[in-house]
Amino acid sequence: MPYTVLVPDNLNQAGLDLLNAADDLTVNAPGLMSRAETLAAIPQADALIVRSSTKADAELLAKAENLKVIVRAGVGVDNIDLEECTRRGIVVMNAPDGNTISTAEHAFGLMLALARHIPQADRSLREGRWDRKKYTGTELHGKVLGIIGFGRVGRALAQRAQAFGMTEIAYDPFVPEDIAHHLGLSLVPTVDALLAQADFITLHALVTDETREMINAENIAKMKDGVRIVNAARGKLINQADLAEALKSGKVGGAALDVYDTEPPSDDNPLLGLPNVICTPHLGASTYEAQAAVGVQAAQQVLDALFKNRYGNVKNKAVLETL
Ligand code: MLT
Repeated sequence: MPYTVLVPDNLNQAGLDLLNAADDLTVNAPGLMSRAETLAAIPQADALIVRSSTKADAELLAKAENLKVIVRAGVGVDNIDLEECTRRGIVVMNAPDGNTISTAEHAFGLMLALARHIPQADRSLREGRWDRKKYTGTELHGKVLGIIGFGRVGRALAQRAQAFGMTEIAYDPFVPEDIAHHLGLSLVPTVDALLAQADFITLHALVTDETREMINAENIAKMKDGVRIVNAARGKLINQADLAEALKSGKVGGAALDVYDTEPPSDDNPLLGLPNVICTPHLGASTYEAQAAVGVQAAQQVLDALFKNRYGNVKNKAVLETL
């Protein structure tokens, strides 16, 4: 009997082509499915490929009688209940390689936009003003860039910032010093050391019990006055109310955000109305190149898992002992 792959989110065509070319595989991928449609289709699925729209939570997993694998076409698996998957013997994988450059480029673009007020100046000109003095910016050259989280994206960003003559420091307790040295920068031993030195801070960490809301009033107080903050990782790294207060007081000079604690952000999000905030709707990985790459990687990982029992980038490793 052929396996069935359910794809309830929009997956890039290159990934779908790979699935459709496989023998003994039925591909159910009608485009973005509603929650009700996904719940109705999940009992038949042997594999599920999601981006961020589909929530693979306890309710969905309870109906997933045949499900063997879930692949997240992208990095973050915060929309998947890993514990419940492990309990049910479902392997969860991500496809982390394809969107590194796109996310690093977007974070870098946000940093430039922040330094030079580009979105605000664009709006002002379109509204009929010619505000050259008001939008005086700052150079990136010579500034200290603090990178929190030195994984794939943090490192790709570091390489780009070097070309702009920034001095870089990074904090990541899981990365060996020689990796940073190899890239020509130093790891600082504590997050406090980074907060005290950085003119720009960019977040590239996962959300864990240690990092959740790490940008909060207490840590903001340790930063330089006028520091600028970029977040293209996850919204829950920031305490939004605390950051809003610091932006209003000028302690934080500006923030550029691609991610929010709820997405889309709620109407009463305290950050969106502030003049020194730049925001984009979680576009880090939204390039043709990244979506093709993660789509193909996700599809290949499903094929490897179903037909070869080969599992890469597993996010709930304990499940492998139960297979
Ligand atoms: C990721 O986790 O891969 C990125 O945040 C992009 C996305 O959610 O699609």
